[in-house]
Amino acid sequence: MRKLKMLYEGKAKKVFETDSPDLLIVEYKDDATAFDGKKKGTIANKGVVNNRMTNILMQLLEKEGIPTHYVKEISDRETVVKKVSIIPLEVIVRNIAAGSFSKRFGVEEGTPLKQPSLEYSYKNDTLGDPMINDYHILALGLATKDELGTVSEYAFKINDILKSHFLKLNIQLVDFKLEFGKTTDGDIVLADEISPDTCRFWDVSTGEKLDKDRFRRDLGGESEAYREVFRRLTGQSL
Ligand code: TMP
Ligand code: ASP
Repeated sequence: MRKLKMLYEGKAKKVFETDSPDLLIVEYKDDATAFDGKKKGTIANKGVVNNRMTNILMQLLEKEGIPTHYVKEISDRETVVKKVSIIPLEVIVRNIAAGSFSKRFGVEEGTPLKQPSLEYSYKNDTLGDPMINDYHILALGLATKDELGTVSEYAFKINDILKSHFLKLNIQLVDFKLEFGKTTDGDIVLADEISPDTCRFWDVSTGEKLDKDRFRRDLGGESEAYREVFRRLTGQSL
C-alpha cells in the first residue's frame, strides 16, 4: 500500500489516496489546536499515541460488533482506513459533566450525570461547529432517520464498551466525540479517531486530567499525560 496524492490536511491528520480506490492512508501529526484553531501548538508523540490508541480501540469495538473504518496499521503514525463519506456531525457522549456541558447548563465539572447524554454538533468550521438537534439534521438532510438511529445506538454501545475498558485502567471516561461515515454500500461505520484529543480521561484515584484539556487549559504536562494513557492501555512505554 502506497501513499499517493494528499487529499486533505486537517488540524491533526493528513489523509492520502492510495493505489486502491476504496482505501485511504491517514497520517497522524503532533500538531494540536483548540478553540477552532485559534490556539496552536504541538504535543510530542501525540501522533503516535493517537494512531496506535485509535487502532487498538477500533479493533476492540469491532470485536464487540461495532463496524469501523479501520483496516491496518502500517507505521507508528500511519493507518489504512476504508474510504467513507463522513456524516458532518460530531457525536458527543457524556457520563460526567465537564467542558461545554458544564458551562451551558451551569453544572459543576465532575458532577455525575443521571444517565449518559448524547448531543450532536454540526461539523462546520466557519459556523464554529454549532450544536444541532435531530430535527435540524433531518431538515438539512445531513443524515436520514434510520442513519441517525444507527449512529445513536452505536454511540451508546461504544460508551458502554469504552467506559468499562478504561475503568479497568483506573481511568474515568468523562465524555468523548465520535464521527461516523457511510461506505459505498451505505453502511454506517465508526470513523476518525478515539484518543486523548477527542475524549476526556480522568485518573480515578487522583482526578488528574489525562487528555487534551491539559493543552486547552494551559495545565502543562500534556505529552506525559498522553503517554500515560498509552502506557496503561498497551503496557508499553513510549
Ligand atoms: P466539550 O465539552 O468542549 O463540548 O467537549 C466534549 C468532548 O468532545 C470532549 O471529550 C472533547 C471532545 N471534542 C472534540 O473532540 N473536538 C472538539 O472540537 C471539541 C470542542 C470537543
Ligand atoms: N480540535 C478543535 C479545534 O482546534 C477543538 C478542541 O479539540 O478543543 O478547534
